[in-house]
Amino acid sequence: MTNPIEFHDRSLSLGLARVSEAAALASAKLIGRGDEKAADQAAVNAMREQLNKLDIQGVVVIGEGERDEAPMLYIGEEVGRGSGPAVDIALDPLEGTTLTAKDMPNALTVIAMGPRGSMLHAPDVYMDKLAIGPGYREGVVTMDMSPSERVNALASAKGCSTEDITVCVLDRPRHEETISEIRGTGAAVRLITDGDVAGVIHCAEPGTGIDMYMGSGGAPEGVLAAAALKCMGGQMYGKLLFRNDDERGRASKAGITNFDRVYTRDDLVTSDVIFAATGVTDGSIVSGIKREVGYLTAETILMRSKTGSVRRMTYRNPV
Ligand code: FBP
Repeated sequence: MTNPIEFHDRSLSLGLARVSEAAALASAKLIGRGDEKAADQAAVNAMREQLNKLDIQGVVVIGEGERDEAPMLYIGEEVGRGSGPAVDIALDPLEGTTLTAKDMPNALTVIAMGPRGSMLHAPDVYMDKLAIGPGYREGVVTMDMSPSERVNALASAKGCSTEDITVCVLDRPRHEETISEIRGTGAAVRLITDGDVAGVIHCAEPGTGIDMYMGSGGAPEGVLAAAALKCMGGQMYGKLLFRNDDERGRASKAGITNFDRVYTRDDLVTSDVIFAATGVTDGSIVSGIKREVGYLTAETILMRSKTGSVRRMTYRNPV
């Protein structure tokens, strides 16, 4: 038996940044144009084209949907030149399609890569999420706790008042009770209209003022957020939420047997990964695409969990 080709995360990382940059640049012309679908499609096409230039034997594990729903970057699609290491890829070519269409902050292109078998094959269902940044003892907040218990526990671990805690939550009617319970502790709530990958990253990114993320959003986005936190440090928990048998069926098809499991960050992403995200619209993690006469500029955050390195890169591309 021949040895598998090693996952050289360091040398693959620049290629990953190129993939994420290409998707952001392609969607740039659709920022603020009110067309979510066209913006997403432009990002998908560009991401796929760049991925297929990489020396990898890649399989999309988090993608645009199941094979019958998505013609490109569907779950299970093989990508890359087929000549390098066997890798799993989680991607969201445009995280925040509505943010892009409306030119609102924090739309990103996002991609993570790890050795084969490194990421949960999360079905396209909701996930209840809880995340905090680095520097706290393991389990300081848990899924079992109520929103107010989490705020109290985090405030005492941080050595501050609950009034000094800010929690990021997706602005959805389903979160009304959570929001009012958090506010009842005196803590602040930063509401976001979309984009919970960025929401979770905010907890680990100095200067955002966000201490904790909670609430439900897409499960695929949960795996991407876990990949980012594995690089940056921080804790995350996720529990799949099922609304019907069809969704349970999707999970079974993805190999999930325990529907009540609470996944930790390291259950969602089980080995070292690389992660890249490029700003489409301006945000608190990276700047959005800048247009100037003759060229576009993109900013990318590129991270490796093995080293905990976080690199920011700007790329100027003539148009
Ligand atoms: P899209 O980019 O696919 O529109 O997803 C945006 C998003 O806000 C995610 O960040 C989040 O996980 C999910 O949608 C939340 O879903 P819903 O809008 O159904 O609450």
